[in-house]
Amino acid sequence: MAELLVVIGAGGFGRETADVVEAINRSAPQPQWLLQGVVDDSPSATNLARLTARGIAHLGSVDDLIAGDERPQYVVGIGSPRIRRILADKLDAAGFNAATLVHPDASVGSQCTLGEGTIILAGARVTTNVHLGRHVHLNPNVTVGHDTVLEDFVSMNPASSVSGDCLVQTGALIGVGAVVLNQLTLGPRALVGGSACVVTNVAAEAVVKGVPAR
Ligand SMILES: CC(C)(COP(=O)(O)OP(=O)(O)OC[C@H]1O[C@@H](n2cnc3c(N)ncnc32)[C@H](O)[C@@H]1OP(=O)(O)O)[C@@H](O)C(=O)NCCC(=O)NCCS
Repeated sequence: MAELLVVIGAGGFGRETADVVEAINRSAPQPQWLLQGVVDDSPSATNLARLTARGIAHLGSVDDLIAGDERPQYVVGIGSPRIRRILADKLDAAGFNAATLVHPDASVGSQCTLGEGTIILAGARVTTNVHLGRHVHLNPNVTVGHDTVLEDFVSMNPASSVSGDCLVQTGALIGVGAVVLNQLTLGPRALVGGSACVVTNVAAEAVVKGVPAR
């Protein structure tokens, strides 16, 4: 029987996550998820209209969800690692469990592990012996090379690449189209700008951009 699921966040990543759910259901013999709707404390009018146009309900705020009797599984479809962490901690404390979603057009290689709450969008390539923590986001066409670890709440924006043997620590964000060369460490909450090429380790909370990234 399909399991109940809610997506937190009516923005772009939240609605892309709804696409993952629909694609998983289409690809399975029986639908795996029953998407109850999207939870968002303050969706914009534009995003509400976008949800309505595709027939997805706005279920109210996170507090509304917590106040209810049901405990559907959840994923946080919000790009900011910081906000994602706050919401995941709040929902976990209220007795919710996070789902893990992988688009059928993504690939995950041998000896990989995926933490709960992790969402992998279409076209992402995760190779061998890669470990993704909890609530990691891989956007379309991301690549994660062999033997790399992405810790909890890491975000890789579209078409970014992390090479082999890297360690990306908790809450780091890698911007659109950026490249991280092999055997490097990005510290907790590091931020790599779009199109950067990272050639040295990046300190915790540092922002780097450009080629080579500084
Ligand atoms: C690097 C980044 C974090 C900087 O943000 P910011 O501090 O707000 O930067 P600003 O927009 O104020 O720009 C500051 C300077 O950096 C430059 N800059 C901004 N982003 C840059 C980037 N990715 N690469 C090179 N230079 C960049 C700006 O041109 C500006 O230069 P100037 O001082 O000579 O005019 C941000 O621009 C970025 O790339 N974020 C990732 C975005 C992303 O992945 N989007 C996809 C979402 S799915």
